[in-house]
Amino acid sequence: MPINTQQLKQWKQQGRPIVALTAWDYAIAQLLDAAGVDLILVGDSLSVILGYETTLPVTLEEIIHHAKAVKRGIKRALLVVDLPFLTYQESISQAMQSAGRVLKETGAQGVKLEGGYPAMIDIISRLVQAGIPVLGHLGLTPQSIHQLGLKQQGKTPQTADLIFHQAIALEQAGVFALVLEHIPSHLAVKITKELSIPTIGIGAGQECNGQILVTSDVLGLSEKQPPFAKVYTDLRQEITKAVEKYALEVRNHHF
Ligand code: KIV
Ligand code: NA
Repeated sequence: MPINTQQLKQWKQQGRPIVALTAWDYAIAQLLDAAGVDLILVGDSLSVILGYETTLPVTLEEIIHHAKAVKRGIKRALLVVDLPFLTYQESISQAMQSAGRVLKETGAQGVKLEGGYPAMIDIISRLVQAGIPVLGHLGLTPQSIHQLGLKQQGKTPQTADLIFHQAIALEQAGVFALVLEHIPSHLAVKITKELSIPTIGIGAGQECNGQILVTSDVLGLSEKQPPFAKVYTDLRQEITKAVEKYALEVRNHHF
């Protein structure tokens, strides 16, 4: 049975963790879906695969192109797509147009938007009222890299308090779940206990209601990983070995 956004709240009540990963094409999506991943995100971390240094250059066209391919590989997982930098921050109407295009053109069930400041709460609340499921994202929000860097957020009592209250505001605005990126685990625990929607952590400790990682990090395809990523296999090395072996065999007329 395909997973829907409503189910995830029940899973939180049942204590069933959400397994989430990112995907960028049909082949990866098919493998993740078949392996039982519950939520697949076409994140703007797509930047890694496209060779951009940050997530900022990713366009709506690019993410839609990749999300369509990912959707074709999914039978069961919930598909969520990031709205890229400056395709939703400007106004409710801009966000509605971008999210609308993503849902209509890719078949995704939801979109993810970064931030929980008052103007973003308004934008998210209007998307939700229009029937667009929204996944929130607080803590380290990479689209603000030029303001925040890539360091852990919520380390001081003031910033922790701000994130905590933004989390509550996002739940009230109607997000179906909340990604918490690179914050202290005690803060993630506090938010997870306070909210009735699930939290999905990335570098936020083990107590969130689910975990997400960037698949290119997990597989060792990224050139460098953030400190909180866990690398489960080294595909860069595997691919290099395979290609070198092939090249050698071609040059030796063994293949
Ligand atoms: O773009 C992305 O992959 C993300 C996850 C890290 C949550 O936003
Ligand atoms: Na992202």
